[in-house]
Amino acid sequence: MARTDNDTWDLASSVGATATMVAAGRARASRAALIQAPFADPLVRAVGIDFFPRWASGELTPADVDIPDAPWGMQRMTDQQAARTRYIDAFFAQAQAAGIRQAVLLASGLDARGYRLPWAAGTTVFEIDVPQVVEFKTAALAGLGAAPTADVRGVGVDLRHDWPAALREAGFEPGRPAVWAAEGLLGYLPPEAQDRLLDNITELSADGSQLVAEVFFSAPASRELFDAIYQRWYEHGLDIDIERLGFPGERNDVAPYLNERGWRVVRTPLNQLLVDNGFEPHAVDGKSPLAMNAAAALFAENYYCTAVRYRETATH
Ligand SMILES: C[S@@+](CC[C@H](N)C(=O)[O-])C[C@H]1O[C@@H](n2cnc3c(N)ncnc32)[C@H](O)[C@@H]1O
Repeated sequence: MARTDNDTWDLASSVGATATMVAAGRARASRAALIQAPFADPLVRAVGIDFFPRWASGELTPADVDIPDAPWGMQRMTDQQAARTRYIDAFFAQAQAAGIRQAVLLASGLDARGYRLPWAAGTTVFEIDVPQVVEFKTAALAGLGAAPTADVRGVGVDLRHDWPAALREAGFEPGRPAVWAAEGLLGYLPPEAQDRLLDNITELSADGSQLVAEVFFSAPASRELFDAIYQRWYEHGLDIDIERLGFPGERNDVAPYLNERGWRVVRTPLNQLLVDNGFEPHAVDGKSPLAMNAAAALFAENYYCTAVRYRETATH
């Protein structure tokens, strides 16, 4: 179903189900000892979409759910979850080493970093997502007996609304540096809400604050390939069309947008991240019969970026 301005969801529906999907990828990668994400599997089970625990556990294999030789599918996404989890975990570790003691997970979904990373004493981790998602994860982790490794504060608010007010109310201090993560989020916001989000982050970021963002323009697949893949998933009980969950329309490119607003930005192309973590890069020459050349070329533009906020100092 197409997205609308004030739509809502839980972890089993609409864009909420993508949080369960990426957590299933982490659970599977954790099972393969590629990352350490011990809460991913029980959280995915708690949501109750049958397909995802079966993928997480290995009961479903790529042969069951992927199209042979296709450039995109469940296993490729899982590889990407593993690589991006390592990358963002390392990013938080260096922000902690730099002395930052406020972390904000934007669209936290089933991310359990507040329960598994070794945060320095005195760190507050704010988890922002829609209320249904924040409440579900907090209750599920409590039910599992998971103890937070920082002062974790759930902030249930839609990121299209006045989330800075909710964040401040939860105790965020704009006068102190913060570290922000926008992982698996931006495409699910309308283009103007993406700009507002980056503007608000900039406004709330004291000198020395840091940000990591995943910036995706496309998946390397034609509509024909998406339909073929979704059909495979459907045969195993999963009914989801990820491409239709994003908001269409031209949007500003994140790295230059941040650069112009007082951030020093470093880009890491997705393929670089995959190679750095021992995974096959995506072919971007459109050779796969099911990949569109244009989509493949655009896919080469997908990247992760990290940024540091600095304020110009007066020179007189
Ligand atoms: C692909 S998941 C990523 C979750 C998490 N960052 C991770 O990597 O595990 C997308 C998440 O974005 C959240 N989301 C999307 N649009 C949102 C909005 N307008 N306000 C708050 N959360 C939103 C969804 O609820 C979902 O948890």
